Amino acid sequence: MKIRMNENYRLLEKNYLFSEVARRLARFREAHPEAKIIHLGIGDVTLPLPEVVTRAMAAAVEEMASQETFRGYAPEAGYDFLLEAIQRHYQRFGVELALGEIFSCDGAKSDVANLTELFGQNLVCIPDPVYPVYVDSNRMLGREIAFMPATEDNDYLPGPAELEDAVGHTVEGVIIYLCSPNNPTGAVYDRAQLEEWVKFARATGSLIIFDSAYESFIAGDYPHSIFEVEGAKECAIEVASLSKSAGFTGTRCSWTVVPAGLEAGGMNLNEMWSRRQTTKFNGVPYVVQRGAEAALSPEGEAECEALVAYYRENAQIMGAVFEERGVAYTGGANSPYLWVSCPNGMGSWEFFDRLLEDVHLVGTPGAGFGSCGEGHLRLTSFGSHEATAEACERLRRYLP
Ligand code: MLT
Repeated sequence: MKIRMNENYRLLEKNYLFSEVARRLARFREAHPEAKIIHLGIGDVTLPLPEVVTRAMAAAVEEMASQETFRGYAPEAGYDFLLEAIQRHYQRFGVELALGEIFSCDGAKSDVANLTELFGQNLVCIPDPVYPVYVDSNRMLGREIAFMPATEDNDYLPGPAELEDAVGHTVEGVIIYLCSPNNPTGAVYDRAQLEEWVKFARATGSLIIFDSAYESFIAGDYPHSIFEVEGAKECAIEVASLSKSAGFTGTRCSWTVVPAGLEAGGMNLNEMWSRRQTTKFNGVPYVVQRGAEAALSPEGEAECEALVAYYRENAQIMGAVFEERGVAYTGGANSPYLWVSCPNGMGSWEFFDRLLEDVHLVGTPGAGFGSCGEGHLRLTSFGSHEATAEACERLRRYLP
């Protein structure tokens, strides 16, 4: 063929991080079909959907089976019943949103990646390590990226000072990605730190893309939404998801909040996102929207809290093993991820290979989340209690 290709794809690693882990795992399985592998790599949940959700979805399926109640295309941003449930969810944090500021979607991953379409060639500032989608989706468009180191020195929570260091010149009009609680480190920004970010973004005419996919894991007194901070509606977009809180990794429902007054270069971001979504997205399936509405109801939120509590227990059990063995780790307290320092100076992929080969345990190599992730391994607490307990036994055997 003689067509021109998007050469930016040459800048990407050959495989997406979790695909690479899956590829190595498949190769190992093929060579060792008898191995009883425990997968604490990708953050995929294991408990079933809350009962209130499956009941609502079953009722919605019944509606689809009858001429009178059948529904075709959904409104692209979501039915009002779902948007109102999301609106009420935010009221729990003292945040008021207009329905027109909420756009439901089939996953935070899609929205985080698709939001890049709204912007021209700005400098993009991304923490390192980080959820690889922020980096890859910007690389696909040839965006210049400045990485803000998230290390032990700053408690894995880079602030505007790290951004200024990374950029190295006067900062103006940059796009900043923040994820709190953080994937992969589990670190969580407190109110003062988020206030500092909002102040910085407003002072420099920058935009924050805030990923709150893990907010339901917050146990302490930390903001669940960037919009809890005054002034955030003038400089931030937030992406949230039911994947981890309600077990929707296979069901798919998320949302993005684009404040109505957000403007740059004489263009309104809310109108642009609406234009983008109505052109390219036909809405979350009705049955799923009914399930999501149920997950966000008081009964649903109670069931979701029980799911989170179950996973939190796993994180505590795993954390105890590392403490006992003197292996440094962070996370787990306000997040489903434990960010573990590889013992004996091992590199991330080396430790990954050792655990896979020696004790048949799969984690995610920290280096896959960025160069500052080298020397770390991420473990998720989304396994079953049984699998997690067995993983702890194997870790005890492996760690001296
Ligand atoms: C992860 O393991 O980082 C997440 O499950 C990935 C995702 O949510 O897309």
